[in-house]
Amino acid sequence: MRKAMVAGNWKMNGSLVSNELLVNTILKGADKLLTDSVDVVLCPPNVYLSQICELLKNSSVMCGVQNISLHQSDGAHTGEVNARMMKEFGTKYVIVGHSERRANQFESDADVLSKIKHALQYQMIPIFCVGETLDQRESGRIEVVISDQVLSVLDGLTEKEASEIVVAYEPVWAIGTGLTASPDQAQEVHRYIRSLFSSRYGQELAEKVRILYGGSVNAANASDLFKMKDIDGGLVGGASLKADEFLGICRSST
Ligand code: G3P
Repeated sequence: MRKAMVAGNWKMNGSLVSNELLVNTILKGADKLLTDSVDVVLCPPNVYLSQICELLKNSSVMCGVQNISLHQSDGAHTGEVNARMMKEFGTKYVIVGHSERRANQFESDADVLSKIKHALQYQMIPIFCVGETLDQRESGRIEVVISDQVLSVLDGLTEKEASEIVVAYEPVWAIGTGLTASPDQAQEVHRYIRSLFSSRYGQELAEKVRILYGGSVNAANASDLFKMKDIDGGLVGGASLKADEFLGICRSST
């Protein structure tokens, strides 16, 4: 049985004052009863890592980040932050390959693989994002796109490494649009992603991999999504900035 996970991707949002209110309100609702059945992760902008990790330190809610540098070693990499630095704050998760970074920072599949291996070397758990654009979906290329993204990473990982990652299926056309994939649409792609793991490493490992859905998840639609066999939780953007909405999503995953 896979434990559910709900991760909040704050993207480029927050302030010291609003963060404290948001996190403390989430902590009031994220009691042990909840976090025993769902892994709750908050991924703030890097600049707030110290504040958020401090607020979370005596709780079972975990901290993550939204990206890590391609460079593992310290040095002349202006503006970059590596996994070693993230780990100093107790960061456990890192979102890798988000479609916004693939599109805006031109991150390639090779970059994504390097970052995943970098994270694993520092005992961080990558949340590996894949997803198709509306054009790719409408032209019937979902499986080609998803398999290219997934297999370009799996082909570079050992079985042990592959067993440690979390996957997030985020249809690009559903991110920030209010257009959520239907439970059946999401389940179809989640099942396909799991079949790719099975083809490489066997069904036992494939059954253990957590695959999150991301793309306009909210407290109203989360329950129907999370009921689906291969949907193990959510990677939440906008709704993660509202404590009640985010807690409602977390409760829907239990
Ligand atoms: O990483 C999660 C994000 O891409 C989803 O955003 O606002 O559609 O929940 P949103």
